[in-house]
Amino acid sequence: MSKIIAVVGATGAQGGGLVRSILADPSSGFTARALTRKASGDKADALRKLGAEVVAADLDDPASLEQAFAGCYGAYCVTNYWEHFKPEKELSQATNMAQAAKSAKLEHVVWSTLEDTRRRVPLSDARMPTLMGKYKVPHFDAKGEADAAFASAGVPTTYLLTSFYWDNFIYFGMGPKRGADGRFALTLPMGEAPLSGIAAEDIGKCAYGIFRQGRKWIGQRVGIAGDHVTGRQMALDMSKALGQPVNYVAVDFDTYRGFGFPGADDLGNMFQYYVEFEKEFAGARSLETSRALNPALLSFEAWLSKYAHLIPLQ
Ligand SMILES: NC(=O)c1ccc[n+]([C@@H]2O[C@H](COP(=O)([O-])OP(=O)(O)OC[C@H]3O[C@@H](n4cnc5c(N)ncnc54)[C@H](OP(=O)(O)O)[C@@H]3O)[C@@H](O)[C@H]2O)c1
Repeated sequence: MSKIIAVVGATGAQGGGLVRSILADPSSGFTARALTRKASGDKADALRKLGAEVVAADLDDPASLEQAFAGCYGAYCVTNYWEHFKPEKELSQATNMAQAAKSAKLEHVVWSTLEDTRRRVPLSDARMPTLMGKYKVPHFDAKGEADAAFASAGVPTTYLLTSFYWDNFIYFGMGPKRGADGRFALTLPMGEAPLSGIAAEDIGKCAYGIFRQGRKWIGQRVGIAGDHVTGRQMALDMSKALGQPVNYVAVDFDTYRGFGFPGADDLGNMFQYYVEFEKEFAGARSLETSRALNPALLSFEAWLSKYAHLIPLQ
């Protein structure tokens, strides 16, 4: 009997990477159950064609999650903050997943989380603004707060600390932009600190390694990254990969927070946290551990050689 892993976010970056890893390894003893709200959509069809079982479920509908988790060995749990920008919704969706995992008596859950930055930067700390009344980095803090939902439900959980996706340079509008001088600039408020980053597809591959290695990871916090690279070095690497010069422009945190796009203040605080807690943040994301979980892990240069052609230059 193969062990079924229910994969939340299967039509997305993290969960998709996990589904593809499971299906690429048919002798592993695992099979993938892909959860989506759009079971008849194109992305669900593509997963079916690869061999996944597709099941309709909504993180806001606890009964649908209970049904989707029933009969499974494990689950990959992820929330998508950027769909709604509501930390409380992430918390409630994570709680729904933890409760459904408990009801289904799952043996291993991997919860895709991030640090609750308020542990190091309490709300009273004025170095960065408090957002939405009770967060410093809303899309981090609610995930970190939700760790307790899994722990208190007694669910055998691995807490997977993910990293900045380099794919943000392709899909999230963070790539190099042409400046007034006509040259491309990579703008990040990172000073000379390294950014812990990863290919989004590698998150699912690392999660697969965690399920394969099994029990040793239960109750553990494991951070993953493909590389820790400064903005200056990333710009140099991009210059080589794109065949045109990219300057690194290190703006300050306030400037970044003031850029005005949705979530700029949240991301500005996040970058400040990366820089001011560089040792703790990068230190929690060992490249050695990440590579042991996923031997195909891409470095930033390797990621560029595969994907630089997709970075929109405008
Ligand atoms: N971008 C980064 O650098 C970065 C780094 C670390 C962590 N993260 C975190 O990654 C998370 C997003 O993960 P991702 O990038 O893999 O997402 P994604 O590619 O944007 O896809 C979102 C996935 O979430 C599923 N989903 C969303 N709401 C759902 C609901 N109510 N019920 C069921 N499924 C739902 C979607 O499924 P359907 O639409 O098919 O239902 C889809 O599969 C965010 O919370 C973000 O904070 C991002």
